[in-house]
Amino acid sequence: MDFQSRYGPMAMVTGASAGLGLHYAHQLAAKGMDLCLVARRQDRLEQLAENLRGKYAVEVLCCAVDLTNAEAIPAIQELVGPREVGLLVANAGFGAKGAFLEADAHINAQMIQLNCVVPVLMAHAFLPPMVARGRGGMIVLASTSAYQATPFMSVYGATKVFDLHWSEGLTQELRGTGVDVLAICPGSTDTEFHAVAGGVATGLKMAKPEDVVRLSLHRLPRGGSTVHGWWNRVMSFGTRFAPRRLSAIVAARLIQKSQR
Ligand SMILES: NC(=O)c1ccc[n+]([C@@H]2O[C@H](COP(=O)([O-])OP(=O)(O)OC[C@H]3O[C@@H](n4cnc5c(N)ncnc54)[C@H](OP(=O)(O)O)[C@@H]3O)[C@@H](O)[C@H]2O)c1
Repeated sequence: MDFQSRYGPMAMVTGASAGLGLHYAHQLAAKGMDLCLVARRQDRLEQLAENLRGKYAVEVLCCAVDLTNAEAIPAIQELVGPREVGLLVANAGFGAKGAFLEADAHINAQMIQLNCVVPVLMAHAFLPPMVARGRGGMIVLASTSAYQATPFMSVYGATKVFDLHWSEGLTQELRGTGVDVLAICPGSTDTEFHAVAGGVATGLKMAKPEDVVRLSLHRLPRGGSTVHGWWNRVMSFGTRFAPRRLSAIVAARLIQKSQR
């Protein structure tokens, strides 16, 4: 079955106004998928939509909402109406660098809401019709941060542990339904993420967002989780053999250095 018959006709991409989400939008449109793009910055969504409609002749809906608002998901559902969403890309997310005790409690709560609660609510909204149709998929943006504690980014790392374990659990629960679930774990990737988080990238070399996106779309039928990049794979596998305390100490040094 080709990509569109398996995950079409429409893909929902959250966080489509920048970074990885923008590349999901481009690569999915290039596969002939109609799109529903979600993020807060309406001007960016509209510009992207116009570009994609012109280039690929696909239908593109834009929903400019703050996903942490309770009205956001009902608004998206109303916009989509009876259209079939066959792929959900739960990508919107952010991190924040710095000492926990100096952080704003509200921002940490928002982070947990956007990175963990929103994907769960979106999955409740969009996966049941996929299971009923016997086909579909969901990609969840986890991170290599999920493989060890991330001091000075500790809440962010914990949200990504949630994303990884939840997606791996769902992959097994949905086996045999025709609905595939994949957690993609990028390492440092060249997007606006680092500026938003208040620092610079931790890795020596950042990945290209388009490569991360390509890998996840390729691996989706297999489900489970995938780490992007051979060095990230070595490091995340290596944490199984290192004492957890040691991994956390190394992570603390790297992240502290990367703070603004
Ligand atoms: N870049 C990395 O190094 C890296 C590594 C591992 C994992 N990840 C994960 O990859 C995902 C995408 O991040 P990125 O690197 O592409 O970052 P990015 O360039 O900062 O993009 C984040 C996207 O999320 C949207 N967003 C943020 N808050 C939102 C809200 N409250 N409601 C709706 N949309 C919101 C932003 O759009 P608006 O501002 O317009 O709302 C933007 O489109 C995140 O889940 C991140 O944790 C990133």
